[in-house]
Amino acid sequence: MTLTPTPGDKFSFGLWTLGWNAQDQFGGATRPHLDTVEAVEGLAERGVWGITFHDDDIFPFESTDAERQHEIDRLKKVTADTGVVVEMVTTNLFSHPVFKDGGFTSNDRAVRRFALRKVIRNLDLAAELGATTFVMWGGREGSEYDAAKDIRGALERYREAVNLLGDYVVEKGYDLRFAIEPKPNEPRGDILLPTVGHALGFIATLERPELVGLNPETGHEQMAGLNFTHGIAQALDAGKLFHIDLNGQRGVKFDQDLVFGHGDVQNAFSLVDLLENGGPGGTPAYDGPRHFDYKPSRTEDIAGVWDSVEANMRMYLLLKERAAAFRADPVVQEALAASKVDEVNTPTLNDGEGYDALIADRASYEDFDAAAYFGGKGFGFVRLQQLAMEHMLGAR
Ligand code: GCO
Ligand code: MN
Ligand code: MN
Repeated sequence: MTLTPTPGDKFSFGLWTLGWNAQDQFGGATRPHLDTVEAVEGLAERGVWGITFHDDDIFPFESTDAERQHEIDRLKKVTADTGVVVEMVTTNLFSHPVFKDGGFTSNDRAVRRFALRKVIRNLDLAAELGATTFVMWGGREGSEYDAAKDIRGALERYREAVNLLGDYVVEKGYDLRFAIEPKPNEPRGDILLPTVGHALGFIATLERPELVGLNPETGHEQMAGLNFTHGIAQALDAGKLFHIDLNGQRGVKFDQDLVFGHGDVQNAFSLVDLLENGGPGGTPAYDGPRHFDYKPSRTEDIAGVWDSVEANMRMYLLLKERAAAFRADPVVQEALAASKVDEVNTPTLNDGEGYDALIADRASYEDFDAAAYFGGKGFGFVRLQQLAMEHMLGAR
């Protein structure tokens, strides 16, 4: 296994990630914004397969049609020259003051209509550039004050928006699927569809649920104190892992957008293990883009930005290598068997068995020795986890 990224690894980066000039709530920029062409060329040189962007990353909100087209042409040229793919496109419905109460769910109906038009224009661009995923991150869809938002009404408007956009891509014949990106808070005090679970529930209420999946982000689930690997497993179980935002987060605090693996590294290990080895028979459970949505820290200059780009991919490949070693270790296989990890894949009922047969089975209840579980029949999960950690740390 090599630690040098190649397009076959399907790594992709948002242009807003390495392009960020590091302006935050408390201070101005600490470095210049990275130009699109320079960014794509630098990514291509480092073995990156794809890029993603918001409309406003390429051409500012105020751009004239000619300025917009000029920037699109520059992007088209550099992607054609380098072979880098535009795999996902998303719409900025959060920066401009018009979206201060949201886009799809603003209390102001005129803003909602404007937001829909902005997204429709961006869908045309996404299709033109060959993207197959369209992310919807509703960062401003939410509220600070319970009195300020009728949540049921807002969800109704969210649904109205996604249903309309679904009509649009189907009727236009675009090869695009939507991926909703949950986040619990920031910039709003509380954001709608805050977690993977909330978004899955919402998707089931749509007119075209098959067209809509998820783009879960590591840090966003972890900001809610949730286990990202569990969330991804449930998204896979639902057939909804359309895309992923990999990054790092250290606990329940503001959205850190650290390099992948620079936050909760053991959860990053289990995630890579799941994505790469989690399918039936150890095949990859996910074959979509390995997309990084992080922010090079404000302390970094341009050299540090490129270091952070490389660090994301290297962390992924290191963890992939370590996860493969974990899976291949005979001691681990024995420990997995001792912990009955695979037994959860055996149906609880026998073939064709219903509750009558279960009730008639004395061995499963009347004669079952539940007392044996007191002081005995431990699962050995600590030993197993220690083996995982030793592989992660390169100690085995
Ligand atoms: C965040 C989000 C955003 C979205 C992006 C896509 O940091 O809160 O991850 O970066 O992913 O805007 O729409
Ligand atoms: Mn984030
Ligand atoms: Mn994201």
